Amino acid sequence: MTPPTPDTNRPNKHIILIGMMGSGKSAVAKELAHQIGWPCIDTDTAIEQQQGKSISQIFEEHGEPYFRALETQLLRQLSHGSISPHIIATGGGIVITPEHLPLIRELGFVVWLTAPPEVLYIRVAKNTTRPLLNTPDPRATLSTILEERAPLYRATRHLKISTTNLSANEIASGIKESAVVFFSRAFYSEQEC
Ligand code: S3P
Repeated sequence: MTPPTPDTNRPNKHIILIGMMGSGKSAVAKELAHQIGWPCIDTDTAIEQQQGKSISQIFEEHGEPYFRALETQLLRQLSHGSISPHIIATGGGIVITPEHLPLIRELGFVVWLTAPPEVLYIRVAKNTTRPLLNTPDPRATLSTILEERAPLYRATRHLKISTTNLSANEIASGIKESAVVFFSRAFYSEQEC
C-alpha cells in the first residue's frame, strides 16, 4: 500500500530521514523514492549544487557555521515552498541547530535511522568526504558525536529504525507502511478540527 499522496498545499507532507553519517539515509531515500514514486531531495547535494562546491570545500573555505546557515536557509525554503511530497534525506548534523527541530517536524513524517557507532564507523571509514571525521581518532569522534546528538534525533523523530541488520529495501518497506498510518492520521485529525 502506498501512502495517500498529501495535498501539495499541506505543510507536513514529506518523509524526512535523519540520522548519523553512515546510517544509510541516502541509500534508503533512493529506495523509498523508488517504492513510493515520490522524488527525492538530499540536503547535502542541494547545498553543493546551490554553492557549486563540495561539502568539504564549504567547510574548508567558510567553516561549519556557514554550512549550518545554508542548511537553515534550505529547510526554510522547503517548509515555505509548495513543492509536491518528497523524500528528504538530511545531513547528519541537521539536528544540532535548535531552530531546525520544529522546521523538520513541520515538514512531515520524520524517521531516525540509527546504528551502533562501530557499525557506522565501518560504513564511513573508507569515505574521506566527511570533514567532521578528519580527526586523529575518527572512531572516537563518531561515538562522541552520536552521544551528543542522540537526544536531538530522539526529540525530532516520529519513528526510529535500527538499520544494522536490514537492507535498504527492507527499511524502505517498513517506512512506507508506517507512513500510510502517519499520513492517514494527519489527514483525519485535520478533518476533525
Ligand atoms: C555532517 C554529515 C554529512 C554532511 C556534513 C556534516 C554531520 O552528511 O552534512 O559533512 O554533521 O554529521 P551525511 O550524514 O550524509 O554524511
